[in-house]
Amino acid sequence: MKSDELRQKFLDFFKKRGHSIIPSASLIPENDPTVLFTTAGMHPLVPYLLGENHPEGKRLTNCQKCIRTGDIDDVGDDTHLTFFEMLGNWSLGDYWKEDAIKWSFEFLTKELKISIERLAVSCFAGDADAPKDDESAKIWESLGIKKERIAFLPKEDNWWGPAGKTGPCGPDTEMFYWKLNDKPVPEVFDAKDKNWVEIWNDVFMQYVKDEEGNYNLAKQKNVDTGMGLERLAMVMQKVPTVFKTDLFDPIIKKVLELSGKSCQKGEGCNCSDEVKKSVRIIADHLKAATFLISEGVVTSNLGQGHIVRRLIRRAVRFGKKLEIKNSDWVKEIAEIVVKNYRNVYPELEKNIKFIAEELSKEKEKFEKTLESGLKEFEKLEKVSGKDAFDLYQTYGFPIEITQELAKEKGINVDIDEFGKEMEKHQELSRTASAGMFKGGLADASEQTTKLHTAAHLLLAALRQVL
Ligand code: ALA
Repeated sequence: MKSDELRQKFLDFFKKRGHSIIPSASLIPENDPTVLFTTAGMHPLVPYLLGENHPEGKRLTNCQKCIRTGDIDDVGDDTHLTFFEMLGNWSLGDYWKEDAIKWSFEFLTKELKISIERLAVSCFAGDADAPKDDESAKIWESLGIKKERIAFLPKEDNWWGPAGKTGPCGPDTEMFYWKLNDKPVPEVFDAKDKNWVEIWNDVFMQYVKDEEGNYNLAKQKNVDTGMGLERLAMVMQKVPTVFKTDLFDPIIKKVLELSGKSCQKGEGCNCSDEVKKSVRIIADHLKAATFLISEGVVTSNLGQGHIVRRLIRRAVRFGKKLEIKNSDWVKEIAEIVVKNYRNVYPELEKNIKFIAEELSKEKEKFEKTLESGLKEFEKLEKVSGKDAFDLYQTYGFPIEITQELAKEKGINVDIDEFGKEMEKHQELSRTASAGMFKGGLADASEQTTKLHTAAHLLLAALRQVL
């Protein structure tokens, strides 16, 4: 099943069950200065999860563009991405566990016809803050999920939010799919076995965490669900990695064509792991950069622009590793991204010229220093914080590139000292950057809620007048 069809099926399914389809919000959070990017479908909905009335009602669904830079080190494996789309449905103080779980189950097993044999779920084990979630487990059992396929896990696994310090949160129940075809599905679910891929998360936002760290019962109980489209496509297209789904395949093919490598044609390709990883990183990072630039983010040394810069530079470095010669290669990959997504996100096509210019500009800028920076790096026997800072300052090497080069060479980088050097030069506060890079959520205080409303009123007025 094609991903376009999956997206539509999900939205139609929830529309039939009384949900309004809302558009994807921007990747740049509108009223949230504490994070750089929208990291989940619930992110733009925080004020409504806290009780503000949503103009479209109490049941919402959408497909939200997301960026998660916290997973950046894992990109290259089979399932982690920087840019992804999250399918979600929400109950704002309306339906609760019974309907949420029933609909998740129905969508997976009836609409998508996934065999129940391949499914397992996890529920919250309970702790001092909140009781064990027997209620969810019972609902799963009543739908036919066997006891052995239900795991009870602690907070680290089965609790979602608050994404920031305070705000709505609660226990969740996650759905897993057994991805191997050549091994029988184990009778007993073991969440540590990576062949069980998490595909969907139903969060029961029953609590609000306060400044003191207390979990208080929420006035409004909400359901917040999230399913990664790429992982769902991987399952439905019966491929072993998100990079072989139709959301990536044309992009990967283009990278391979440009680098003169051939693989990804199916199982048994003889590419080395290193080539595979480089190809995947290039595809992932340039896709993320394409979407971000399309939203007006330009490369810089701060904030979102700094992330775009790092994504492009890392892609360029891997492009060099793959010995891509074509001088327009970054732009050519962006064109494939746009072609692959223009039906769903038409703004990409409108902005293609700007995207191509920005990407090419950054690529050329980095290429001017990359070669000489690599020569400098080669001279090092270990990388002090000062060395890493010089590589950043003089040759524009983002720290992750230096770290990767060091890892390839089997030497260390003094990352703490690098942080201190950065702070000293006040380029970017180390703490701010660490927090922002990971993402989180606004404090969700009363003032934030008020400002959010005011911002919307202002925006509406501006739209009318201008
Ligand atoms: N907000 C939940 C998640 O991101 C659904 O997993």
